[in-house]
Amino acid sequence: MSEQKTTQKLRSQDWFGKEGKDGMIYRSWIKNQGYPAHQFKGKPVIGICNTWSEVTPCNGHFREIAQSVKNGVYEAGGFPLEFPVMSLGETLIRPTAMLYRNLASMSVEESIRGNPFDAIVLLTGCDKTTPSLVMGAASVDLPTIVVPGGPMLNGRFQGRTIGSGTDVWRFDEARKRGEMTEAEFEEAESCMSRSIGHCSTMGTASTMACMVEALGLTLPGIAAIPAADSRKKMMAHMSGIRAVEMVKENLTMSKVLTRGAFENAIMVNAAVGGSTNLILHLLAIAARIGVEVNLDDFDKIGSKIPLLVNLMPSGKYLMEDFFYAGGLPVVIKEIQNHLRKDTISVNGKSIVDNSADAKNWNEEVIFPSSKPMIDEGGIAVVKGNLCENGAVIKVSAASPHLLQHKGKAVVFETIEDYHARIDDPELEIDETCVMVMKNVGPKGYPGMPEVGNMALPKKILEKGITDMVRISDARMSGTAYGTVFLHASPESAVGGNLALVQNGDLIEVDVPNRKIHWHVSDEEIAERRKNWQAIDLGYNRGYIKLYIETVNQSHEGADLNFLIGKSGSEVNRESH
Ligand code: FES
Repeated sequence: MSEQKTTQKLRSQDWFGKEGKDGMIYRSWIKNQGYPAHQFKGKPVIGICNTWSEVTPCNGHFREIAQSVKNGVYEAGGFPLEFPVMSLGETLIRPTAMLYRNLASMSVEESIRGNPFDAIVLLTGCDKTTPSLVMGAASVDLPTIVVPGGPMLNGRFQGRTIGSGTDVWRFDEARKRGEMTEAEFEEAESCMSRSIGHCSTMGTASTMACMVEALGLTLPGIAAIPAADSRKKMMAHMSGIRAVEMVKENLTMSKVLTRGAFENAIMVNAAVGGSTNLILHLLAIAARIGVEVNLDDFDKIGSKIPLLVNLMPSGKYLMEDFFYAGGLPVVIKEIQNHLRKDTISVNGKSIVDNSADAKNWNEEVIFPSSKPMIDEGGIAVVKGNLCENGAVIKVSAASPHLLQHKGKAVVFETIEDYHARIDDPELEIDETCVMVMKNVGPKGYPGMPEVGNMALPKKILEKGITDMVRISDARMSGTAYGTVFLHASPESAVGGNLALVQNGDLIEVDVPNRKIHWHVSDEEIAERRKNWQAIDLGYNRGYIKLYIETVNQSHEGADLNFLIGKSGSEVNRESH
């Protein structure tokens, strides 16, 4: 732990230490909860930012986690104050949680800045709850520690292990092929989600938990601990203690979130086979804290890193198995030669130093770097005349034989068009075609939903084919798989060339050479552009209007343009 101690005045004393009328108001109303004055006068006040919500089922256990954090804060001589923020549950919220990530981050940022906190503990779990909290906190830049809520325990169905999300896609395909009855499909629901916690695969939530650990924002080893394991609460308790110490050391977020920390997060993501959603979130976090990271960095820094973690959707196992195998510290130790060591995590040491004693207890789950699962496991960024600013593909979840492929485009103008025609027996499509979906990007949907892994037509699935090349400006669930090119930028809704693709156009993808080429002449593109019109979604008020007007493209992280950067923690005016 860092030895550096500061004697600076506590930020919270600007509230609770004040004399006169203002101080009285600040103290008096806090006392109505039964706190005696000595609890909060002169002690570090630790804000516990809680995303508990019954409509965010993955975070449904967070009241207990918050209590463990509080116990730690009290033990260390601090004063914990828990507060709610907008919580995004991936499975229930419509049209997509991503539409509200930036809104949630605003609620986090303003709640932190406006209140008498000296440090913050962020309770994160379901996919968007991690980036929205980290983005909001980064724009304030207080000492901040993250407690990821942990994955569900392994599901079991008909004698085999099943994973959240990933098996939803598999079961749906089996049901369409007539290999699974409706009754079995329904029974699988309860088998899949058998405990508290977030998705059990290396989907976006697990990816985000690994991301914050790799960035150095958590205590080491916390990401993989299942939600139902008592060690999760112990780590929450320890995080509460550490938050108090971080105030004394003035270990602010920007001291942890350096360029090296972002590089480490990109490399660790490649080694664990993490979700493509990480790209958007990491870009947005970097822009908030003021560190230069761009889309090409993910390919340059991450694509040569070996895939070590054998978890669904790229592999076989689940987060519970990953925890028993040793969790993220093992992965960090295995790829330590690649990692930046000039970083510090919230405990004052680098993630490499923190992982020095890690032991791999199961080389089937975490492959050694000398014998990786896949030699190059990272995300590839492809560019071409279909997406000048890039599109991304998770190579480890794709079919090797489709990584170099040329086929005729079958175009769906909107998600509704796709649903209406995909299973039409008359649809002219075979497995060599390239499925293209438009208007599912940040502005076009709006909110960039996870529909990029569009299900194959029933008539192709019935032939036993399970993968085809798919291209869109959408995202894909971290639990999904396939040869799916995502985040095409600029998106079709702003007139990116994707908007001009027509049925029958030839599209060539070449992942080894990082290319995607649309075989249409520049003259023909210019001609088609004359007739192009943006779709009008009819949103003329409220947050969605603001979102459509100000959201950045996906290669920039899809944040609202006026949220980039930070405003710090100063608030000079009183409220009374
Ligand atoms: Fe919440 Fe997957 S739905 S983590």
